[in-house]
Amino acid sequence: MSVPTLPSRVPLATKPLGVLGSLQAGRRNVLELIPEIATHAPILSGRTGKRWHMVMEPGALRQILRDKVENYPKSVVTKLILGPAIGESLFVAEGAHWQWQRRAAAPVFTHRNVAALAPVMTRAAERSAARLAAGLGRDVDVFAEMVAATFEVISDVTFSDGAGFDRAAVHRAIEGYIGQTAKVSFLDIVGAPAWVPRLNRMFAGAGIREMKRVADLAIDQRRLEGAHPVPDLLDLLLAGEDPSTGRKMTTAEMRDNLLTFIVAGHETTALTLAWALYLCAFDPDVQAAARAEAMAVLGDRAATVADVAQLPLTRQIVDEALRMYPPAAFLSRTAQAEDSLCGREVLKGDTVILPIYALHRHHGLWANPDAFDPSRFAGAQKIDRFAYLPFGDGPRICIGASFALQEAVIILATLLARFQFSRIEGKEPKPVMILTLRPEGGVWLKVEPAK
Ligand code: HEM
Repeated sequence: MSVPTLPSRVPLATKPLGVLGSLQAGRRNVLELIPEIATHAPILSGRTGKRWHMVMEPGALRQILRDKVENYPKSVVTKLILGPAIGESLFVAEGAHWQWQRRAAAPVFTHRNVAALAPVMTRAAERSAARLAAGLGRDVDVFAEMVAATFEVISDVTFSDGAGFDRAAVHRAIEGYIGQTAKVSFLDIVGAPAWVPRLNRMFAGAGIREMKRVADLAIDQRRLEGAHPVPDLLDLLLAGEDPSTGRKMTTAEMRDNLLTFIVAGHETTALTLAWALYLCAFDPDVQAAARAEAMAVLGDRAATVADVAQLPLTRQIVDEALRMYPPAAFLSRTAQAEDSLCGREVLKGDTVILPIYALHRHHGLWANPDAFDPSRFAGAQKIDRFAYLPFGDGPRICIGASFALQEAVIILATLLARFQFSRIEGKEPKPVMILTLRPEGGVWLKVEPAK
């Protein structure tokens, strides 16, 4: 079998004119529109209807995400895309409305609460292994399999066993919604005003209305029934309040936040796992070492939260998958006031793009950036905090990061201990940028019993 020298990557544009041509043509893969020079330069600026800047320099990223965060709220277009499904929830709100929700939701994601939710992850890992075992010998789309596993986790921890919660209906609505976001183009991202009515039309669907109705029912029912002995995310949010004012969430606010956790949490974690499995198939030596680690710690049981600290290589593979294929491949912000980034003038209203994919493959920040090397994350090696941003940073950093990492390590170790994953000739995954960085057509691997 012919082995490519490097894992799949997005073909970045090499001619500036090509970038402009593609933009004018509209509907192209956003990541292909990130020019190759973004992996060498600190900042790139341009104008496509609106002025925009792509920022790859860690100091300037720190300025945007942390030091001057109030000057760089999430871009208007982020809100237009996400607002119809998840309202003014934690992910899109700004200022005081964001702050009180973040304070109310923070206790939900403390180390202790996330650890207490781990048995749900262990069960999902076990069921995923059972499905894979039933289909041995066939080629498997491990992305679809990981979507099934992570959806089980997130729906169990948000609306566990909720009578009246139609899990399949919610999953269908969310998949449909994510499919719609596939039509978002770079022009939408930089905020060309002409596209706004089109975006509004795209996301006013019946599926979203149905999803909200089902969630509201489940929340009201839980209020009546009271919390479970082991509280799930819904119980924790019901108990949560802003510590400074005592304010609690209404049913609508709670529903928007729970749906945000589902939308923001399940596909991103499934992507991380699918890319991690692909990378293990790409590098059989790393896979063998990770399997030895997992077998030694787990024997033939599924991983639990107590095992996570004993699985450092598994964790490094997850970290490296998040570097090479960051699910949130770019973030965008709108400048509220004049500023200077890397000596470049930024005007009020400019779109500021944080192309995480290009940052994570930047030649000035990473040695051999396109190569798979989990040992970059081993031990005490110093990685600039703002050179590695799979979860963002500053006050808007992903609230579910430790939840996602714990889940990814538990599922990956369980699967690697039992199965051998290998590439299928001619079926390399093709990363494309939709709202997240996804493998077009899936990640197909051969799955055999571990030897
Ligand atoms: C590997 C999986 C995940 C990745 C790569 C990821 C990535 C991100 C990123 C990059 C942001 C910041 C966006 C920005 O600054 O524009 C974010 C925010 C957020 N994420 Fe995640 N996420 C993941 C899993 C999760 C999970 C499991 C949950 C919930 C259960 C979650 C809930 C959220 C929420 C609510 C926010 C908004 C936080 C705020 O603005 O205060 N994410 N995520």
